[in-house]
Amino acid sequence: MEEKKKTVIEVRDAKKVYRMGQEKIKAVDGVSFTVEEGEFCCLLGTSGSGKSTLLNLMAGIEKLTKGEIIIKGKSIGKMSENKLAKFRQDNLGFVFQSYNLIGSMTALENVEFPLVFKRVPAKKRRKLAVEMLKNVGLKGRMQHKPKEMSGGQQQRVGIARAFVARPAIVFADEPTGNLDSKTTIEVMDMLKAMARQNNQTIVMVTHDRKLTEYADKIINILDGKIESIEIQANSKEGKFPEYEEPAVPDKKAEKKGKDGKKSKDKTSKSGTKDTAVPNTGDTGQSQGAGGFDLAYETEKLEAAAQKLLDEEKAAKLAEQGESQAGAEEIKDGFTEFVKDDKSSLE
Ligand SMILES: Nc1ncnc2c1ncn2[C@@H]1O[C@H](COP(=O)(O)OP(=O)(O)O)[C@@H](O)[C@H]1O
Ligand SMILES: [Mg+2]
Repeated sequence: MEEKKKTVIEVRDAKKVYRMGQEKIKAVDGVSFTVEEGEFCCLLGTSGSGKSTLLNLMAGIEKLTKGEIIIKGKSIGKMSENKLAKFRQDNLGFVFQSYNLIGSMTALENVEFPLVFKRVPAKKRRKLAVEMLKNVGLKGRMQHKPKEMSGGQQQRVGIARAFVARPAIVFADEPTGNLDSKTTIEVMDMLKAMARQNNQTIVMVTHDRKLTEYADKIINILDGKIESIEIQANSKEGKFPEYEEPAVPDKKAEKKGKDGKKSKDKTSKSGTKDTAVPNTGDTGQSQGAGGFDLAYETEKLEAAAQKLLDEEKAAKLAEQGESQAGAEEIKDGFTEFVKDDKSSLE
């Protein structure tokens, strides 16, 4: 299998230092390696070893303290914010441990979301999203909102969303971290099968040695450094689910189209992001500052959600009130955005 593989990611002496008052934390401490096209690469290490930081550096979410990261021949550290946002949108997909689906949107809308920001026309968008959801065995759940689905189903939506725009590279940070062992295997199978189908590259963070059976390359991380790199010639291949979720009566079909009022987003569970996202308006080719970028925004949303959870308890009800307002805003923004071609959204 020693074909002439093309390098898609090159990490050169990457360093990330966090300053905590007087203390310096070397989260990533001089790391170099490459990831080849179509490779399933695992970053493996214990908690706190620097895996997520490294992944975030590779995805351009965190800034390097030192070193260089080259993706598809471009040094991402040298790009402006706008360029980087556009680059991410064109080349990268993301799968998160807590799914990061937008709580006020259906499965279908969540999968369409990245395509909206890529200005893909409505009909095509819908077609692609439906196809993806069928692939992940969720044909019968397209109109479900995240909290009406199990964790495994939500992550399958997350995978469909990550792959729908056919990114060259998909980054996944502990994508099965919140799932039971049976669902973990289903999700891993799907992730691998999905990537292999179009020769897409995966970089996945995990602390779970078992999951590396799917990996072509394992980067062992310890204290911010690479301990060893393993190549696996016969990694476990994945498969798409041969079953389909049973179809359920489509309640949304009856109240067709607008109003969106009916849904009562009572809780803001982890994994759903009932928080405001900036509306792109309808001129927005430009990303960055005023634009929407899923990677950045979900990161921010994640942080915001965590803060909410921390502060929660006593102020629970009040905060949920805010979340509700945020959810409505997203929904309105989305509806606004697609309204010119809504005939094809039926
Ligand atoms: N934003 C941050 N500020 C300060 N320290 C951080 C930050 N993010 C991560 N760290 C520290 O960097 C180290 C690596 O963290 P992380 O990359 O999250 O590890 P892992 O994903 O392997 O569990 C840890 O010591 C962590 O506390
Ligand atoms: Mg981590």
